[in-house]
Amino acid sequence: MYNIRIMEIKDYEEIYELWKNTPGVGLSGNDDSKESITIFLTKNPTTNFIAEIDQKIIGTIMAGHDGRRGHIYHLVIKEGYRKKGIAKKLVEKTQDALKKEGIKKISLVVFKENKIGNNFWRKIGYKTREDLKYRDKRIE
Ligand SMILES: CC(C)(COP(=O)(O)OP(=O)(O)OC[C@H]1O[C@@H](n2cnc3c(N)ncnc32)[C@H](O)[C@@H]1OP(=O)(O)O)[C@@H](O)C(=O)NCCC(=O)NCCS
Repeated sequence: MYNIRIMEIKDYEEIYELWKNTPGVGLSGNDDSKESITIFLTKNPTTNFIAEIDQKIIGTIMAGHDGRRGHIYHLVIKEGYRKKGIAKKLVEKTQDALKKEGIKKISLVVFKENKIGNNFWRKIGYKTREDLKYRDKRIE
């Protein structure tokens, strides 16, 4: 049986290995550095979780909010532990934690070609916004 608990910065090396070795996970040199994750976890202390079995991390979800929208990142379940409902449970935990923060809507980004990821999000009720274009700009 697995256990879900809040993600801590001491987990960083283990979760980074999992992300690095999982196709479909988009890693960013800046956003996923230990320094950036430290800032994110400090700003969002109640909405980031890991799933573990025998103290080995087999799943992650990161989420934060700016007081208006929640945003989910890095939902990953290690191969061999998938299709057991663990991702769904992690998303539910995150949704509950964001709700407690007063957040009413959550967004996320998935690579178009990530079939498994897109199937998963559709199945649990996250709609594609065909009326929007995702835009961003580097300001550094
Ligand atoms: C996407 C991912 C997190 C799903 O994790 P998981 O633990 O296998 O998902 P769950 O078992 O909680 O599945 C929940 C629902 O999604 C569906 N689903 C999960 N994987 C699926 C797949 N490969 N194809 C179709 N449906 C799928 C399940 O059928 C399930 O519905 P059900 O409970 O009614 O059967 C996992 O495949 C993964 O880590 N992929 C790589 C990283 C990634 O792409 N992350 C998402 C992008 S942010």
